Amino acid sequence: GTNGAFPNAADTDYAEIEARARSQQAYATVRPQLGKTYLPLINGEYVNTAETVDSVNPSNPSEIIGKVGLISIEQAEQAIQAAKAAFPGWRKTPVRQRAGVLRKAADLMELRRAELSAWVVLEVGKAVREADGEVSEAIDFCRYYADEMERLDEGYKYDIAGETNRYIYQPRGVTVVISPWNFPIAIATGMAVAALVTGNCTLLKPAETSSVIAAKITEILVEAGIPKGVFQYVPGRGSQAGAYMVKHPDVHLIAFTGSQEVGCRIYADAAILQPGQKHLKRVIAEMGGKNGIIVDESADLDQAVAGVVYSAFGYSGQKCSACSRVIVLEPVYEAFVARLVEATRSLNVGEAHLPSTQVGPVIDATAQARIRDYIEKGRAEAKLALEMPSPDNGYFVGPTIFTEVPPEATIVQEEIFGPVVAVMRVKNFQEAIAVANNTNFALTGGLYSRTPSHIEQAQAEFEVGNLYINRGITGAIVSRQPFGGFKLSGVGSKAGGPDYLLQFLEPRVITENI
Ligand code: SER
Repeated sequence: GTNGAFPNAADTDYAEIEARARSQQAYATVRPQLGKTYLPLINGEYVNTAETVDSVNPSNPSEIIGKVGLISIEQAEQAIQAAKAAFPGWRKTPVRQRAGVLRKAADLMELRRAELSAWVVLEVGKAVREADGEVSEAIDFCRYYADEMERLDEGYKYDIAGETNRYIYQPRGVTVVISPWNFPIAIATGMAVAALVTGNCTLLKPAETSSVIAAKITEILVEAGIPKGVFQYVPGRGSQAGAYMVKHPDVHLIAFTGSQEVGCRIYADAAILQPGQKHLKRVIAEMGGKNGIIVDESADLDQAVAGVVYSAFGYSGQKCSACSRVIVLEPVYEAFVARLVEATRSLNVGEAHLPSTQVGPVIDATAQARIRDYIEKGRAEAKLALEMPSPDNGYFVGPTIFTEVPPEATIVQEEIFGPVVAVMRVKNFQEAIAVANNTNFALTGGLYSRTPSHIEQAQAEFEVGNLYINRGITGAIVSRQPFGGFKLSGVGSKAGGPDYLLQFLEPRVITENI
């Protein structure tokens, strides 16, 4: 089918003076609120917790963005029971009304766009324009899944003479959404509203480092009219409350985006039938990538360099879609590397809230140490072509380029999730495709080429969920580039695409002899 009609939300145009003023005003509104406490929302009430954790600004870790109450196991149990109790009412709520809550939430996000971007910038260290793009994506998810559920609600009619056959969808039950910090508003909103609009009662457990933004999503859903118990905000420790909810016999579905390690753990835990459990759980797990871009001898190198720089270093490489491998054909290798190094050297690395910043910090001290370890490994495995300096205060890692990297090197095989890119030299296009496919992942990939036979071969043989030709490989847009991968990149169908909601539904057929 075609899909020309979906109107994606427009990003802010920061060239406009009014837009920049709104952005400044948003910081003035947000700054005095820093350090406030955010409590879990259980059965319609904000509840006190025994434990809290500080969420800090990665650009300046002495600045506390918020104090977040972490749920106990008992509170996780209460939330699941509240979700179970709310389910019969929510599943019977007409789709038009459920979709209405999502559309209202989208409108509220549009009204609060500048403020929401400011929270994203401050809590996870994302540069302003990218934070704004993420708010657009969150809005798109609300409106797109609202439309999609209305489409699915029509079902199918397979009637013949004397017999009606109705194919319909029903919700699955209690859903736990475990969301990542790297797209703290877009992905958390997308997974949560998909679960809600399909009629499932939903518990949102955000990554600890993005719990304040998840609290903002919660405020918006409550204001949009989500009933108590239908949506609950349950920040907590993944290894404790998170694991408890995943293993709970009353949970039907887990939607997760995050690391391969945690995704595999959830997949395994969810597979075990618990005493009293009368169903098998569905797991949607979107995990990592080790995404490559091929640059062939016919590529427009200006385009290729700009696309690689943005795909590799945008949000400090902390996107599952980010480019971490570049596979360059021999004839253009030297020229490409020289230009890539120069272009990267000109990036502004700094605190995320500064309008001039292109590359901000990484998420926390653990990530910074892990990325630095990979840079040490890279020094032993390949040639260090560039390591940019970065500010001392804050969790910064300067953009780093390794060249002459062997295809089996650790920095080529393992997901680093930071601003580190490995450039490899190949002799011909066949070898380029083989090297590109030589990882455990299959998420995004790119090709810069003006050779039709190469473009055709990549379409057929480059094994990735999202292949981008002659453009960057991040920033998929809802309904235009439905997003997701296979192999160890995850299980489940593409977010922002026509199959996504089916995963949250149980199809039924009702036949009547008339
Ligand atoms: N959807 C994002 C992108 O395309 C990654 O999660 O960059």
